[in-house]
Amino acid sequence: MKKLPIGVLVSGSGSNLQSLIDHIEEGSLEARIRVVISNNPSAFALERCAKHGIPAVVICHEDYPDRECFDRRMAEVLHAHEVELVVMAGFMRILSTWFLREFPLRIANIHPALLPAFPGLHVQRQAVRHGVKFSGCTVHFADEGVDTGPIIIQAVVPVLDDDTEDTLAARILKEEHRIYPQAIQLFAEGRLRVEGRRVTVEGNRATGAAALHNPPLTGF
Ligand code: GRF
Repeated sequence: MKKLPIGVLVSGSGSNLQSLIDHIEEGSLEARIRVVISNNPSAFALERCAKHGIPAVVICHEDYPDRECFDRRMAEVLHAHEVELVVMAGFMRILSTWFLREFPLRIANIHPALLPAFPGLHVQRQAVRHGVKFSGCTVHFADEGVDTGPIIIQAVVPVLDDDTEDTLAARILKEEHRIYPQAIQLFAEGRLRVEGRRVTVEGNRATGAAALHNPPLTGF
């Protein structure tokens, strides 16, 4: 199978980028990272690229007069690398309508909550404060809202009584590293069907259900 050419957008640590690199290297993700774009010149993700010989480009949003100009530059780089799927991995910028229309249903994002609950920022803190008993993560296609696009895969984690924002974030991140490569592999295999808001997976593996990790309830 041809490897899916992807471009990864990052702003920070890049642990999701690392998980994609690891899954590609071990053969469970049939993709090739053609380019990584960071809007932050000191993102640790750039060191990960250097270590694995992945082309990386820094595009500082401050250097552009508005969001669309910045996005047009990103699109130029992504097209030059013949990217077929744009993968947002901890990319802390909102995309312009122009960019979203340039890559329709070709932009994936990962969010550390069970959407549509807790869109936006600091969502692990919000989940702990709200007192929800489960949270998790969501891989979805980007659309013109914030964290509103069609959902591809979700995974669930428990929220424990003594959780802090950090302990919950760590539990969720582990699941992010598992389901993001899985979602991209499904895209690479051409198995995702989108009808309105609903994304279904072609073939007989019940991937959506398999991605759910409801923990066994003990002590009842
Ligand atoms: C992840 O929790 C991701 O869901 C969110 O930002 C965090 C990025 O982590 N969008 P990393 O840069 O991949 O380590």
